[in-house]
Amino acid sequence: MRLSAVILSICTVAGVHARAIGEGEKGLTTRADIPTTFTWSSTGPLIFPKDDARQLAGIKDPTIVEINGTYHVFASTSQEAGYNLVYFNFTDFSRANSTQFYYLDQSPIGTGYRAAPEVFFFEPHGLWYLVYQNGNAAYSTNKDIADPAGWTAPQTFYSDRPKLISDNLEGGYWVDMWVICTSTDCYLFSSDDNGRLYRSQTTLANFPNGMSDPVIALQDSNKYNVFEASCVYHIGDGKYLLLVEAIGQSGDRYFRSWTSNSPAGNWTALAATEASPFAGASNVVFEGTPWTKSISHGELIRTQTDQTLTVNPCNMRFLYQGVDPTVDVSYNSLPWRLGLITQTNGSC
Ligand SMILES: *[C@@H]1O[C@H](CO)[C@@H](O)[C@H](O)[C@H]1NC(C)=O
Ligand SMILES: *[C@@H]1O[C@H](CO)[C@@H](O)[C@H](O)[C@H]1NC(C)=O
Ligand SMILES: *[C@@H]1O[C@H](CO)[C@@H](O)[C@H](O)[C@H]1NC(C)=O
Ligand SMILES: *[C@@H]1O[C@H](CO)[C@@H](O)[C@H](O)[C@H]1NC(C)=O
Repeated sequence: MRLSAVILSICTVAGVHARAIGEGEKGLTTRADIPTTFTWSSTGPLIFPKDDARQLAGIKDPTIVEINGTYHVFASTSQEAGYNLVYFNFTDFSRANSTQFYYLDQSPIGTGYRAAPEVFFFEPHGLWYLVYQNGNAAYSTNKDIADPAGWTAPQTFYSDRPKLISDNLEGGYWVDMWVICTSTDCYLFSSDDNGRLYRSQTTLANFPNGMSDPVIALQDSNKYNVFEASCVYHIGDGKYLLLVEAIGQSGDRYFRSWTSNSPAGNWTALAATEASPFAGASNVVFEGTPWTKSISHGELIRTQTDQTLTVNPCNMRFLYQGVDPTVDVSYNSLPWRLGLITQTNGSC
């Protein structure tokens, strides 16, 4: 579904546009209103690793688009030995757990460390891009999202790890690459598990080449407040929503949010506290017994699949990773599963 001015104009909630929309920009009729607080309803765990020879511990970090009634998901697979990627599709969440997995190490993406995918269709090339981490910021391309064998071998956005990131990395990890484009530029975000969100850019015409040296887009002296898994979406009319995963008081994961009028802009806090987060234990109501205290790495479901990452902020669905809080094993062996939260205070 494309965002239209009509849909946006009937959102009546109090927006946060005071700082984000400047003088001379369009008024109420085309403004992307987004609530300042959020409430969600969550399913139980929906998607598990298969009981197969791979003996995976977890399925993580989903990216998801919906095309003509089919959901296409790319996710990380995890186990003590490390990470790789998987693809699957389904038409109905109630049957998602029975879909076949295509393990992407069978494609030219190959074996070894690959994780935290983001998928989008880059219209200027007529190609799907899968962006992920492999120690660097990597991508593969494919003409057909439904043909998982068709992905190209990894290429990287940077020739090597940028110096700014190396200089800041001690005790952290360079993770969670994210690309979003405007009509003129493409931006590459990444995190360092150390309190910093980085941003590089290149022109739309030059993408995927020419990524600049990164700058710090957002930081916090408490690394747990700006940890990882950032997503940036266009929510209409040149307004952007940033989500960043944080680690709360008791070690549980939740998402904070900010808005801006450019991916390169200054980010204004929206719902950015653990008590009133974008999504976390304090604003998610579970169907049945709560199965996770963490609302961790995930993505909004996109029905507009292009490089602008445009979503309607009024009736959001977010596919996330959660985990049984009583399991006490090493981080890579945690039994992460995927669940879905649906916004319950949408106003459109
Ligand atoms: C999902 O499928 C996995 C393996 O195929 C199975 O172990 C698990 O119990 C299933 N979960 C549900 C809720 O059916
Ligand atoms: C969706 O379905 C329509 C009608 O079958 C088809 O014309 C269109 O190409 C499909 N779109 C995509 C993105 O596959
Ligand atoms: C789902 O994925 C399989 C590969 O695992 C592919 O053969 C099939 O065409 C896909 N289905 C749709 C509807 O895209
Ligand atoms: C961000 O804020 C600073 C200081 O207020 C200002 O100098 C800069 O131009 C702003 N940048 C953008 C992209 O709005």
